[in-house]
Order: sequence, then structure tokens, then C-alpha cells
Amino acid sequence: MKVDTFLVERFMAKYQPEVELDIAETCVKPFTLGEFLSFVGEEEYLEKLKDLTLNYGYEKGLPELREGIASLYKDANPENILITRGGIDSNFQAFYTLVEPGDTVVSIFPAYQQLYSAPKSLGANIKLWKLREENNWIPDLDELSELVDKKTKLIAIINPHNPTGAVMDERILSGIAEIAEDVGAYVLSDEAYFGLWIKDEYAAPTMADVYDKAIVSRTFSKPLSLTGLRLGWLVLPDELVEEFLLHRDYTTITASILAEKLAYLAIKNISKIYERNLGIIRENYRVIGGWIEKEELIDWVPPRGGSVAFLKYYIDMPSKELSVKLAEEKGVFLVPAWCFEMEGYLRIGYGNDPQKIRKGLKRFSEFLENYR
Ligand SMILES: Cc1ncc(COP(=O)(O)O)c(C=O)c1O
Repeated sequence: MKVDTFLVERFMAKYQPEVELDIAETCVKPFTLGEFLSFVGEEEYLEKLKDLTLNYGYEKGLPELREGIASLYKDANPENILITRGGIDSNFQAFYTLVEPGDTVVSIFPAYQQLYSAPKSLGANIKLWKLREENNWIPDLDELSELVDKKTKLIAIINPHNPTGAVMDERILSGIAEIAEDVGAYVLSDEAYFGLWIKDEYAAPTMADVYDKAIVSRTFSKPLSLTGLRLGWLVLPDELVEEFLLHRDYTTITASILAEKLAYLAIKNISKIYERNLGIIRENYRVIGGWIEKEELIDWVPPRGGSVAFLKYYIDMPSKELSVKLAEEKGVFLVPAWCFEMEGYLRIGYGNDPQKIRKGLKRFSEFLENYR
């Protein structure tokens, strides 16, 4: 099967491990296992886990974990929750289960590339719903109405958005739901960065609480800082649960009973983890915002949620070249817009250690000296 190169994953895999100051990482400062267990007051937990039988576990995932997750949503039942192997698996299961050759899939653009390249590889006709900087990266509902057709199976969105940090509010989400309903489409809402609001008033609802044909994709990476568990979840409409299980038998069987036990501790302590992580992203937001005010060659549409933002630069250089030069000359890593099939921006991750962000920006300013 042919599939396009996943530009951001390939680029990051090549440059990220080699740089000293990686300020592109999208996850909010991941815990070490020891830090996490003491953070949730379970220092002795590994001892308790010795009795765990390492079998396949449960087809949909650990029952208490699914129960805890279901309680995060207005109407979800634990039976509608499926534990997956990360947000990337949640998204993939949606495409693999639903998309047939000739279907239309509308994807937000720019995007985490999986949202359009994976359904394309399954034979879908992809239509891109383009965001524009002059609209603060918020999509236009009239344009969505023009894009959908009777064959539209899925409308794929990311909220909060990667790579821009824009947040679609309830009005936009309800508008998407109405348009989707008119053509009988599902909405795949990738909510990998959900809950990371720069200000409380920017909080948006989950699509699961807005549209009954929403498929919501979440992760234990990013806002929960447990990327290494490689776990995520799906919130599914009733009528899709069996269909998802059928397809997942061919790719996953189950996720990981061991990781699910640790994930359960995270769900039990979710408010505490968010408190830690909102502290990190909000501090970094202030640091980056202050730096941009002084840095004449850089600008941004201030992000409203998530842990990534697009930095606009006023230098005449392709973004890939700029990113590589910055990494090679100053040891600072930012993701070029080239990875999102655009130009003129670099993506920063503001879930990183605030010290590292400060140091990285200082070096970036030194680099920019040559271009002023
Ligand atoms: C929007 C979005 N969805 C999903 C993923 C996949 O992440 P994970 O599989 O770690 O949950 C990413 C990773 O960068 C992402 O940015």
C-alpha cells in the first residue's frame, strides 16, 4: 500500500535526538516513572504490580480505566470507550474502520499529517479545509459547507489545533456538527491537546458533548505527560463500537494491560496533572510572548490552547533550511512549516521545560542577529 512520507515524524526523528535544545517537542514535560508515581502518591506501586498477570487484558481496555475516562464526558458510557495505543492509533482505527475507496474525507489543513495522508492511502478523496493566519487560524464554516458532499464519510479536525494552537469554540463546533449532520458524516475530533487552555475562558467543549456522531481521539501523551505509555483512547458513538472492535482485531487486539494500570493512576489524578501542566504551558506562553514583543523578525497569532504554536518569521529563507541552520549553528530545534506543507513559520512546543525554552529563545535571538 502506498502512503505519503509523514514529514513531521521523519524530520523530527532525524534532527530531534541530535540537538542540545529541543524546543519543538509537543508533549508537556514527560514524567519519569519515579516522578509520576510519587506525584500520584503511589511510590510502592511497582511492588503491587508484581501480581499482575501479563495476559492480553480486556478487549476494550481495563474496565476501571474506561469508567474513569467515561466520567470526563457528559453522556459517554464505559462501553463507548476504547483504549488504544496512543492518539496516533486512535486516529488510525477511525480511518481503518470507516474509510472506503471513493469516500470523501475533509481534513483541516495544516494538520497533523495523519489526518489526511492516512485516509488518502485507503483510497479516500481528500478535501482540505484550509486555515488562514488572517482569520487567526480559525476555519470558515461556509467553506466547509462548500467542501462536503454526499460521499463525505468523515470530517477530521484537531482541537486545540496542531500546529497553530488555535481553539475552535462551541459556536464553530456546533456549526461543524450541523454541516456534518446534513450529509450524514462523522466528525473525527483529534483532541490530543485537550484541556491545555492558555486562559480558562478559552476552554472549548469536547466534540463528544456536541455531536452524537463524533469520534473523539485522545492520548496519554501531550497533556498527561505519559508519552512513553503509548496509550490513548477513543470515545465512540454506540453504533460504531462493534465495527471498531472488528477492525482492531486485525491491528492491535488489545493495548497493554501494564500500561493501562499506570494510565488508571493518571486518570484518578487527572486534575492534579492538569494543574502541573497548565502551570508549565502558561509560564512558557508568557516567556515566548515577551520574547516576541522584543524580537522584530518574529511574530505569532497567540495560541489559545495546546502546547504548540506557529512562529512567523520575516527572513527570506525556506523554513526547512532555517530550521536545519538553527539546529546546526545554535543547537536549537524548531519544526519547519515545510513539515506541514506550508512556508513562513516554525513550530515551537511550549510544553517544554521553561528553562530550556528561555535558553533556546536566547540562542535563537543570537542567530537572528545576522538577519536584522
Ligand atoms: C494532533 C495529534 N494527534 C495525534 C498525535 C499522536 O500522538 P500520540 O500517539 O503520542 O498520542 C500527535 C502527535 O504529535 C498530534 O500532534
